[in-house]
Amino acid sequence: MIPFRRHRRLRRTPYLRDLVREHRVHADDLVYPMFVEEGLQGTSPIQSMPGVARYGLDALRREIASLSEIGLKSVILFGIPREKDERSSSAYHEHGVVQEAIRAIKAENPDLVVMTDVCLCEYNPLGQCGLVQDGKIVNDPTLELLAKTAVSHAQAGADIVAPSDMMDGRVAAIRAALDANGYEDVIILSYAVKYASSFYGPFREAADSAPQFGDRKSYQMDPANGREAMREARSDLEEGADMLMVKPALAYMDVTARLREAFDVPIATYNVSGEYSMVKAAAQRGWIDERAIVMEMMTSFKRAGADLILTYHAPDVLRWLREDE
Ligand code: PBG
Ligand code: ZN
Repeated sequence: MIPFRRHRRLRRTPYLRDLVREHRVHADDLVYPMFVEEGLQGTSPIQSMPGVARYGLDALRREIASLSEIGLKSVILFGIPREKDERSSSAYHEHGVVQEAIRAIKAENPDLVVMTDVCLCEYNPLGQCGLVQDGKIVNDPTLELLAKTAVSHAQAGADIVAPSDMMDGRVAAIRAALDANGYEDVIILSYAVKYASSFYGPFREAADSAPQFGDRKSYQMDPANGREAMREARSDLEEGADMLMVKPALAYMDVTARLREAFDVPIATYNVSGEYSMVKAAAQRGWIDERAIVMEMMTSFKRAGADLILTYHAPDVLRWLREDE
């Protein structure tokens, strides 16, 4: 008889399974994306993302205070400015909405890791991530504006800046500008591998940043490409990125795994708006078990190789982790 292996031996009891489990989701790994709207009093719910809202400054502070009590250690901020213009000037204004939010958070909660999304799409009427000239998204002239944005976030106290625009050379431009202004300790988390994805739909409602012409395929990556992800990641590291991100998360776990194998920096994955909304919609109908599904997704991101997980599920996950203790 051929001796066969009894894999089920290690799965027999809950304690045995605990003992041999390879990956765990921990509160420390989670980053909560939050939307802060200039001039808003209180909060304003986002229809397509149940449970997620835009926050006014005070409401944001209160929400962060209560989430840090259940273990939240990091947020990433997105701004909705009162005014948009062609040069996206509210993105890098000293008293812009994100800059003020960073100051407010840091004043109360200096230990919280504050990340900011560095991009122009929320700040110009065309909703493009770069500067537009003659109907084209121009690369090099955009770099200066991104660098100014990152420096203004650093000035306000951001720990980590995360460029999501997908212009070439932006990590180098941001690193140089940060260093020139004395912010050599500010970390760059590059959205190195960001796909032109339909999973961002609900976010564009939340951030009021949908492109007003065309799409983002001339700068965000083609979902069909995996090898290209390695080129993007490598050049961002060469330009000085401290950490790399893959976005979206669910449909791109193979890419996360490839980056994990190839590079030794921390890898983040962004569990984006559309992924969140699909889970919420099905859960609201009672078609899926939300808690089990979300925890399975989070565990799988870890297994694929993500160190950090940016997710709108963060508050729920933090609560569930506490309940399990
Ligand atoms: C801005 C930005 C986007 C997201 C993060 N930063 C939208 C986009 O590029 O279209 C998407 C986040 C989400 O869908 O949750 N460039
Ligand atoms: Zn953008």
